[in-house]
This record gives sequence, structure tokens and C-alpha cells, in this order.
Amino acid sequence: MGGSSRVVELVQYGMGGVGRALFGLVTRNASDIYNRLGIDLRYRALVDSRTALHLDENSALSPQHLGHLLAGFQANPPERLKDQAGAVEKPSDLSVLATELDRLRRDDRGARLVVVDVSGASETIMEPVISAALRQGQYAVLANKRPLCGPIADYRQMLAAAGTGANRLRYETTVGAALPVISTVTALQDAQDRVFQVNGTFSGTLAYLTSRLEAGVSYSQAVREAKEKGFTEPDPRDDLGGVDVARKALILARLLGSSLELKDVQIEALYPAELADLDIPGFMESLPQLDAEYAGRVEEAAREGKVLRYLATVTPESCRVGLEKVAKDSPFGRLQGTNNLIVFRTARYDQSPLIVQGPGAGAELTASGVLADILGLARRA
Ligand SMILES: NC(=O)c1ccc[n+]([C@@H]2O[C@H](COP(=O)([O-])OP(=O)(O)OC[C@H]3O[C@@H](n4cnc5c(N)ncnc54)[C@H](OP(=O)(O)O)[C@@H]3O)[C@@H](O)[C@H]2O)c1
Repeated sequence: MGGSSRVVELVQYGMGGVGRALFGLVTRNASDIYNRLGIDLRYRALVDSRTALHLDENSALSPQHLGHLLAGFQANPPERLKDQAGAVEKPSDLSVLATELDRLRRDDRGARLVVVDVSGASETIMEPVISAALRQGQYAVLANKRPLCGPIADYRQMLAAAGTGANRLRYETTVGAALPVISTVTALQDAQDRVFQVNGTFSGTLAYLTSRLEAGVSYSQAVREAKEKGFTEPDPRDDLGGVDVARKALILARLLGSSLELKDVQIEALYPAELADLDIPGFMESLPQLDAEYAGRVEEAAREGKVLRYLATVTPESCRVGLEKVAKDSPFGRLQGTNNLIVFRTARYDQSPLIVQGPGAGAELTASGVLADILGLARRA
């Protein structure tokens, strides 16, 4: 690709569903990406909760080595990072980045480095790593919501480190996976539109639950079904509690300019606090005691020609997530299955709002959105 090509090195945190899907997507398509865009994507380090694998110059470029790793990560069950030759127990997540930044400086070939956070790690772990890369003039792409949901002061520092307009940091997949949610808001803002409100169903699990309730299935049965189909986390309270949706809402609220903290988001959990400390089987057994309450809410909504949906409602001043009654014959009311639906109300899209709809989860889809973010940054690097 001649003189205009650029080397973009990836330091990836997280080797779960999304991490492995991304590794496969990049590895299989690296030469096509190079031929089409002149962007030479190279994995430099892979990191999970305990282990790091630094890829040296030879292995980072060798299709044989990458193919071998890929086959292992895609095996059933997948091989772990710690089982790979050269994997080491990491001293800390920050030290992995420091090693790679040192090498980048020593190489002195003008390569760019992207921290890719597809981990489930907390904000206290990942925010310092991302900020350190950004402060060094490097780049970051996040599917992990948590680093964007820490204290507002840390969030602002991280954005400031990313440069004006957060142009070295992308996080499209934190809200609605590969659906264009963050990029829609930023494009509207760039066009000098004013975004008043973003409303969305941001949980496939809760969308499934509410559409089953609407079909007359009891609450306990609907939760059981969702768990059996693999739509919930192993502990369904991780979905029913609403915190994951609240994080997405907070990310949008902050994008709209709010200074809210996660604790300021009004969250309606779909189970009472008394059930929080039970073990998972105990929780599942206790669910029928909630059936009458949710059946009553479904009936009350039906009497008004409405149905229940678990919605996030975000404005620059406020942020709430919970069950809402919506007209049966509205975009939210017509929504079935696990799709996400996001409605943007703006000065220009006021009478007839702008709508984005589609699947908002899944490892492969999320990985595709992360790759699009990486290439979006690499094009301008
Ligand atoms: N799956 C989706 O549909 C989707 C959609 C949008 C966004 N996301 C977000 O993307 C991220 C990954 O999702 P996933 O489904 O791949 O989750 P996952 O399968 O649970 O994998 C999480 C990975 O993070 C690793 N990890 C935990 N702590 C770490 C640390 N301190 N440093 C480096 N790695 C660490 C885990 O390591 P171990 O293997 O050692 O435990 C694991 O490999 C999450 O933040 C999730 O919220 C997921």
C-alpha cells in the first residue's frame, strides 16, 4: 500500500466472548484491511483477568502463529490465554500497557497503539489504563461500559486526555452493541442539532421478558424461560436489577452533557431488595411470589391500551430506567423479541423522531462494532 500505510498495534484487555470474536475478526481480515485501507493491524498483547501474552515482532506478524492462537481460542471449549506459549502472570493491567508503550518508544517507527477494552473489569482497574494510553497520545476503544461510569471527574479527565471532542477514544458498542447510538448522538451534535431526549430499550433480556409478560406468561415463567434460553446472565438478578441498562443510560446522559453519577440514575429493579441475598436457586424458587404483582401491572396497562416496556429515559438533566406503560401501537409497543429500539428527540427530529432498531447484543456483533471503532480511529491516526 506504499507510503500511506500505517501500523496500528492492539493491546486487548478481555478474552471472553467479545474478545475472542474480535481476535478472530481481526486475524482473518487483517490482510484485506491492509489492502483496502492501508492499515496494518497487529496484535501486540492479549490480557485476561490474570494473564498477559505479549506478542513479539515475529509472532505479531506471523500468520502461522496468529492462526494457531485463533484455532485454540475458537476450540470447544476454548483454550485459555494462560495455556499459550509465552503467557505470563501479569503484575497489573497498567504494567502490561507500560511494557507496550516502552517497546513502542524504543521501536520509534511511528506506529500507533490502541488499548481495546473488551473486558468485564471495573472502572478502577481500566480507567487508569485507558487514561494512561490517551495521555501518551495513543488511542482507546471500549466495549466495557464501566470505565465511562466512574466518578464524573475521572470521566472528564479521561475525555480531556483523549483530545478535543474525545477524538482518540471510541465506545460505540457500550450502548446497543454495533447499533449506531453513540455515533448518532455525536453526528446530531456536530450538525448543531439539540438532543432533548434519548429513549431506549437497552436490554434484550428485559425486552424478551416484557414481550412474554404481554403474551400472558407469568413473571416467574418468563424469567425461567429467559434463563433457559441463555438470554440472562448466570444470575438473572444481574439483568433484572437494571444496573447494566443504567450504565448505558449514564453513558448517554454524559454524552448529552450531564454531570450525573451512577448513583443519581433512578433505577427500578424487577425484584425486591429482600431477594437480593438469596442464592440463585433460592431466588428462582421465590419468583412466583411476584407473579400477581406483575400480572396486575400488565392488566392495568392493557386497560389503557398499553403494554409494559423496560425503558431508559435520558435527558441532559435526568436519567431513569424502569418499566413504563407505552401505547401498544407505538414503536416501543410493537417491539417483540430481544431487539433494542432507540428513539432520539431533537430540535430537528421533534414531531417525527429519529429511530434506530436492531439486535443490541451478541459477541460477534459487538466485535464488529469494536473493529469499526478501531478502524475509524486508525484512519485518522
Ligand atoms: N457480549 C455482548 O453482547 C456485549 C455487548 C456490548 C458490550 N459488551 C461488553 O463487553 C465486555 C466483554 O463482554 P463479554 O461478553 O466478552 O464478557 P465475558 O465473556 O464475561 O469476558 C470478560 C473478559 O474480561 C476479562 N477480564 C476480567 N477482568 C480483567 C482484567 N482486569 N484485565 C483484563 N481482562 C479482564 C475476563 O478474563 P477471564 O477470562 O480471566 O475471566 C474475560 O476474558 C463487557 O464489558 C461487556 O459488558 C458485551
